[in-house]
Amino acid sequence: MEPNATVVILAAGSGTRMKSRKAKVLHEAGGLALVEHVVRAALTVAAPGHIVVVTGHQADQVEDLLQGRGLRFARQTEQNGTGHALEACRDAVPEHEGLLIVLYGDCPLLRASTLASLVRQHNLARATATVITTEVPNPTGYGRCILDEDNCVRAIVEEKVATAEQKAVRVINSGIYCFDAATLWQKLGEIVPNPVSGEYYLTDIVEILNASGHKVHSLLHGDYGELLGINTKVELSEADGILRRRKNTDLMLAGAVIRRPETVSIDVDVTVGIDTIIDPFCQLTGSTTIGENCHIGAGAILSDTRIDDDVEIAPYTIIGRSVVETGASIGPFARLRMDNHVGAGSHIGNFVELKKTRFGKGVKAGHLAYLGDSEIGAGTNIGAGTITCNYDGSKKHRTVIGEGAFIGSNSTLVAPLEVGGTAYIAAGSVITETVPEGALGIGRGRQSNKEGWVEKRKSAPATSSRPADGQ
Ligand code: UD1
Ligand code: CA
Repeated sequence: MEPNATVVILAAGSGTRMKSRKAKVLHEAGGLALVEHVVRAALTVAAPGHIVVVTGHQADQVEDLLQGRGLRFARQTEQNGTGHALEACRDAVPEHEGLLIVLYGDCPLLRASTLASLVRQHNLARATATVITTEVPNPTGYGRCILDEDNCVRAIVEEKVATAEQKAVRVINSGIYCFDAATLWQKLGEIVPNPVSGEYYLTDIVEILNASGHKVHSLLHGDYGELLGINTKVELSEADGILRRRKNTDLMLAGAVIRRPETVSIDVDVTVGIDTIIDPFCQLTGSTTIGENCHIGAGAILSDTRIDDDVEIAPYTIIGRSVVETGASIGPFARLRMDNHVGAGSHIGNFVELKKTRFGKGVKAGHLAYLGDSEIGAGTNIGAGTITCNYDGSKKHRTVIGEGAFIGSNSTLVAPLEVGGTAYIAAGSVITETVPEGALGIGRGRQSNKEGWVEKRKSAPATSSRPADGQ
């Protein structure tokens, strides 16, 4: 944390090259909006009140996303370039002295350590301005850095105005800068619109500073992949891939086993405990946390879900916004839609669907069931084919089953309904009324056998296809 640093994040552009109805900085990589990554990097160098996000295109959505953390916002009502965007936040910046760090909202891979070295090198050199530069194999689209014999930056030339010779330069501007704030605010007004595009390019500040005797230092960064600016959906997918590789690597170094990690997609905020095994083609998203020693089977999709220790999630199970306690086993092919709580040691088998349902400890629902808006007591067994009829066409109703109950296969439980503890429901029942504790509830037609029916059918006159009922 730098006590005298202010960070400005430029996030007002529409991102024409994304070819999208959504503002560029709202697109996600690694499960977070691009601008969210940049804000997190900024928070490692400056306090929230010293971070100003410049918004413009879809400003309300961008500000909503970043709300509630004490950041400051400034509006750039017309997007006239990066220089114009910085000017738009002059009044919102709390201090015009100390360090001013400028970041672009489309640079999501920047690491905190790189930002820290920028500040360190800037302070050590007592520089007026320091730019992070990097050498890329294909510089197309980036501003080219023209360096002098001391490796200082004389100018940054944008693609649109670069000569063929300048275009061949492979050292590019990352768009990450550290300035002496007082000098920057004094000189910023000298930027004039670019003759080709009519935009105010922040990069022109480099020549302006040089002209008034201020050297612009370059911090050459070795890993260009970290400085990727996202302009197109191709670059978006590259950034997403890099973030997910980083995440998998971090988790494996911290003790998780990830099999075929190139097929596994884990959002940046997910946590996974030691010795948990994650099989190929899993997706773990949002705020999912997984305990220790779990096994997450192939193709499982878990979002915003808490999985405690020693849980087995068998292949192709989908769980959203739920809690699964220690030692439970779920799947294969189970679906827990939302707001479920599965008690310790419970088992949910194949083709079972849960919605807003709470299992106590050791509940078993082994096969083919729909349990919605239900509360199921510890140790209860739910037979194959059990359906809670929770919807009457206009309202949802609850089913409450006590502890140690036994629900026979193919039971239809018409909610609102209570089934007491230790009660039994006979297989194939339609249950519409309360079943008291310890009772057997039967709700089905009685079976009757017609003795000799087959023989009678054979000897019946040819005109009749089968004997009449009761004969
Ligand atoms: C910019 C740099 C280029 C650098 C590259 C690094 C300029 C003129 N060029 O080019 O030298 O190599 O980034 O990725 O700065 N923005 C606004 N308001 C505007 C215009 C842009 O807030 O009026 C924001 C955008 O939302 C974006 C950022 O500034 O987050 C950068 O804009 P973008 O258009 O992507 O710049 P590049 O062409 O990539
Ligand atoms: Ca860009």
